[in-house]
Amino acid sequence: ARTWRADAIFRMKKRINMALLLVTGGAGFIGSCYVLSRCYAGDTVVNLDKLTYSGNLGNFEVLRGNPKHIFVHGDIGNVELVEHLLKTYQPDAVVNFAAESHVDRSIIDPEAFVRTNVLGTCTLLRTTKTWWKECAAAHRATFRFLHVSTDEVFGALHPGDPAFTEDTPYSPNSPYSASKASSDHFVRAFHETYGFPTLITNCSNNYGPRQFPEKLIPLVTLNALARKTLPVYGTGSNIRDWLHVEDHCDAIQRVLEHGRVGQTYNVGGNSERTNLQVVHGICAVLDDVRPSVEGSYTDLIRFVTDRPGHDFRYAINSSKLNTELNWHPTHTFEDGLRETVQWYLDNEKWVKDVQSGEYRSWMQTNYAGRLQN
Ligand code: NAD
Ligand code: DAU
Repeated sequence: ARTWRADAIFRMKKRINMALLLVTGGAGFIGSCYVLSRCYAGDTVVNLDKLTYSGNLGNFEVLRGNPKHIFVHGDIGNVELVEHLLKTYQPDAVVNFAAESHVDRSIIDPEAFVRTNVLGTCTLLRTTKTWWKECAAAHRATFRFLHVSTDEVFGALHPGDPAFTEDTPYSPNSPYSASKASSDHFVRAFHETYGFPTLITNCSNNYGPRQFPEKLIPLVTLNALARKTLPVYGTGSNIRDWLHVEDHCDAIQRVLEHGRVGQTYNVGGNSERTNLQVVHGICAVLDDVRPSVEGSYTDLIRFVTDRPGHDFRYAINSSKLNTELNWHPTHTFEDGLRETVQWYLDNEKWVKDVQSGEYRSWMQTNYAGRLQN
């Protein structure tokens, strides 16, 4: 019965020319943006997520009751479950967002990053490759496995260095980036060894709605609103290249539809900013839209003990994606930041729900011992 159902689903979606995607880690920050955009576009998404601290079903309130979103609670390393999903739904593509994603957490618990980012990705690759080999030739030819990765695999740049290209040698510095670099190597190896149709995207820092508030932009926004200190690591002179999450998801979709199999594509926002500029930018928006009688939010900025091994600068050269696939970011950083800060102001329930006991205990673990300079 299951085989019949799978065949029927496959034939039906081919007839109506919509994709059926198996998205992993789709309850997180970037994955949820991608899932929402694909469901709105008419695709069906099977969303496999372990719901770790950063996975959040509250991201899908707007999809409640929508049959195009099929949520499955589980681990990418669960072979039986993934096999079952592949056989039942016969996806056109697997898009892998599932990961441990926070550098500071990787410094405290590196093995968690090996388990999901390395072992989990490798198991997901093997399970998917085994199923793919048994698919009908037409399906095998069009199937894609897209792995979402990061610019951090390339290491750190000095001021004035040229931006990372797809040919920049890997040189990861944190346990997080080492685990992502390792997963990228496995993806590449599955293409080279088995002819498995893979794609990789390496993207810069994302910002936008629904980002878990352990990352710089939501953390500073929410601390500021609570009149807590705004912790800036070191001198605040480290540089990141910021890209709006919707632009990242557009790039992923473009690579999925038109990217050359076996290739990697860099994705960046052309928006390099020092951390201090970003923090001042958030304070300026808040001073404008939510002025405080206690004074400017910038008064709350504190320089604290630096992140160990803190990469100085990331910058991405996206010209391959620009020229081959005609992708360009659409949000400016200033407008995108203003909208993002406003989103956190407008979504009090979402914010309250994620500031759970786990969140409070992380804030204690990461910040209580940091000295103020
Ligand atoms: P996130 O932490 O917000 O989301 C990760 C999601 O993966 C969560 O929903 C979590 O529950 C899920 N997950 C974790 N382990 C899992 C497992 N074993 N099985 C199934 N699901 C699991 O992260 P994010 O910021 O949305 O990042 C998504 C991906 O994009 C990651 O691979 C990350 O490395 C990459 N990336 C992130 C950025 C960024 O700036 N945030 C930039 C470039 C690339
Ligand atoms: O470059 C892509 C990467 O961007 C992604 O692969 C990661 O998943 C994502 O977390 C992000 O990594 P960063 O370490 O750059 O992001 P984060 O928001 O943690 O930090 C951004 C910068 O701000 C970084 O230089 C550290 C600094 N920072 C961060 C925090 C949380 C602070 O100064 N204070 C803070 O409290």
